[in-house]
Amino acid sequence: MSDWHIDYTSYDPAEEKLREALCTLGNGYFATRGAYADAAADERHYPGTYVAGLYNRRVSAVEGREVENEDLVNVPNWLPLTFRIGDGDWFSIDAVEILSFLQRLDLERGELLRDVRFRDASGRTTRWRERRLVSMGDCHVAALQVELTPEDWQGEVTVRSTLDAGVTNGGVARYRALASRHLETLDARDEGQHRISLRVRTTQSRIEIVQAARLEVADGATAAAEPAVRQSPDLIGQEVRVSTGEAPLRIEKIVALHTARDPAIAEARLAALETLDRCTGYEALARQHAMAWRHLWDRCDIGFDGPGCNGEQRKLRLHIFHLLQTVSPHSVNRDIGIPARGWHGEAYRGHIFWDELFILPFLTLRLPHLVREAMRYRYRRIGAARRAAAAEGFRGAMFPWQSGSDGREESQQLHLNPASGRWLPDRSHRQRHVNAAICYNIWRYWEATNDTEFMYGFGAEMFLSIAQFWGSIASYDPTTGRYDIKGVVGPDEFHTGYPDTDADEAGGLTNNAYTNVLVAWLLARARDVMDLLPPDRLTEIMELTGLDEAECERWHEVCRKLKVPLLDDGIISQFEGYENLRELDWQDYVARYGNIQRLDRILEAEGDDVNRYKVSKQADVLMIFYLFSAEEVTQIFEQLGYAFGRQAIRRNVDYHLARTSHGSTLSLVTHAWVLARSDREHSWQLFQRGLDSDIADIQGGTTKEGIHTGAMAGTVDIVQRNYLGLETRAGTLHFNPLLPEGVEWLHVRLQFRQHRLDIDVTPTSLDIRSRPEVAPMIDVAYRSHYRKLIPGGRQRFALVSPSARSGSRTE
Ligand code: BGC
Repeated sequence: MSDWHIDYTSYDPAEEKLREALCTLGNGYFATRGAYADAAADERHYPGTYVAGLYNRRVSAVEGREVENEDLVNVPNWLPLTFRIGDGDWFSIDAVEILSFLQRLDLERGELLRDVRFRDASGRTTRWRERRLVSMGDCHVAALQVELTPEDWQGEVTVRSTLDAGVTNGGVARYRALASRHLETLDARDEGQHRISLRVRTTQSRIEIVQAARLEVADGATAAAEPAVRQSPDLIGQEVRVSTGEAPLRIEKIVALHTARDPAIAEARLAALETLDRCTGYEALARQHAMAWRHLWDRCDIGFDGPGCNGEQRKLRLHIFHLLQTVSPHSVNRDIGIPARGWHGEAYRGHIFWDELFILPFLTLRLPHLVREAMRYRYRRIGAARRAAAAEGFRGAMFPWQSGSDGREESQQLHLNPASGRWLPDRSHRQRHVNAAICYNIWRYWEATNDTEFMYGFGAEMFLSIAQFWGSIASYDPTTGRYDIKGVVGPDEFHTGYPDTDADEAGGLTNNAYTNVLVAWLLARARDVMDLLPPDRLTEIMELTGLDEAECERWHEVCRKLKVPLLDDGIISQFEGYENLRELDWQDYVARYGNIQRLDRILEAEGDDVNRYKVSKQADVLMIFYLFSAEEVTQIFEQLGYAFGRQAIRRNVDYHLARTSHGSTLSLVTHAWVLARSDREHSWQLFQRGLDSDIADIQGGTTKEGIHTGAMAGTVDIVQRNYLGLETRAGTLHFNPLLPEGVEWLHVRLQFRQHRLDIDVTPTSLDIRSRPEVAPMIDVAYRSHYRKLIPGGRQRFALVSPSARSGSRTE
């Protein structure tokens, strides 16, 4: 099988929604699930189309309470395309006998193909060969091309194409009790020349969305086109009747989509019709689309091979493909963040979390302007973050755990535990650590790009405003002589408070180690941020934020005296009091439940509480070693006045890994990472599982609700920063490759300081080539051997064998 294809060779209704998510086509502006063109939402199918960052709020009554949620909106379904013979039934994949089947996601060209031969109830054999694209060339265009071949019959065929606004947000079973209709239909028209249009508006955000479609059926056949019909208030369709012989019938449906928020348009309907009229046909669109994809792959592809490999190359490409469909050059200037679940489904409502931490490193080294855009999305919401901090009595800016349209906290107030059927208060918004992640992202982006426009313009202001928040949330305890951070939840969302206390009163945990280590790091770094600003800009920011020397002094103090709870033997406690929790009988739970990833739900359904146990949903303490090298970790602990030797890292990994259920796909990435140098075999297994997160739906049912962008980017990042050992420090690109056993070749393309680089690694060599560019010379280094690289130049290093090495990130 080609490493560019994901193939399915039979139709499996039970797997269909998963495939729809995996075969979603998108371009960073909108995305459409890979549903059948004839399918409507039901038990088997869920066609969904989502415009990036297009949200709507609804209030629902749950358990006698009103809750408000903001959702990524399922906009009208543009896909419907079907046919019937004579006045028989309309074709449906579920009503025919399938004789042969191939569904192919072509990652290289960005197309979804379906080739199905089937026999209908009257014994006629027909072949449906479909190509589909959501254009990466023109982000407002999508298209279907079908070749319909009557293999053993002749007769009159009616082809029907529809635009359907009768859709709801019904893709996530857990949300079904919540209000789900987000659209009102304004207008549906026959626009003449085989065109129809549909105009809708979201009920609360009042965003107008217009789709215009053109149906063409072979040459001359269009003469038999019927006038478009508004089949219901929400549905407009057009039909074409044509007599067929044995020759294939060529059908094309071209669709344009605009919203009133698009830049550089006068009005959405006009824009949609103009866009549609510019499209000559599928083939021309496919060429433009393939070219755009070629350009992206030329920057982003990764090669991975060796005798120990089995499908990793394809899975990595699948991950890169979906990342680029979620965030692409079309995402620029649209005020959209990077969602945790792609624009591929309705899980987590299209919200933006801390997952950027896993996603941005991939983009920083390939399409850095998209990282800047993601940061700009945050910066535009700094006002809301300042108000949120002030409302809780803190200074500076406190960004929300879940972010949507206007920057307020979008975490749900109640969530449903499907295992017990109970609605429970949701405490995840206490994950203030998202604010440390934003600072971390700003700093790493700056290190890699030296983008002064970004840093001076808004990066520094955001960093320092967040530092203000952390400085003010930390409280001094004279009995310990240390600062505490209270009322938070760490990345491990299982622990939201102390056992046997009312969750409302207890309100989170004290001194989550991960949070505090990051805060100690960022408060120390704040001084570096200030130092690199031109004096005038620094004065402006200080005036704007009310920052003064006394506050900076306090940061200096806090960053040396924050408490990090430590247990015996250098084990970092996840939070204060963690040591008093009970051990869980893991074997018993595995024996009873099999899959225990969501122990929180299992225990709650048993009338117990996960807060009572030493179990983590995902890496929490170990995130420290994911984000910082061994050297950096020891420096941070030194700064905090704790003795923490790098030998303790492995003990921490073993201790915490043994207590983690991997209830989040992010967990696999972190653990594969922290083990990469010390236990290559285990790390490799976790990496493989991370690669399977979505394609094999390892959580047993979450991928159909949307892909996991963090795990997708995180696995790619393991290849570049772990296997290649890539670090960007002080303007130098450092390499320290260590390939997993059985991997003999790695090829990575990336961009560093205007150099486009092709990097090849084998177990014995590292070869770095710069493409011809106009760019200043850069430094590259392999294990402290520094060399200059000029544009168009090349540097080769002979690698030290693994057995002769020491000293690296977690060694
Ligand atoms: C994880 C979070 C993550 C979120 C969105 C949750 O299941 O626990 O860490 O941010 O999913 O991906």
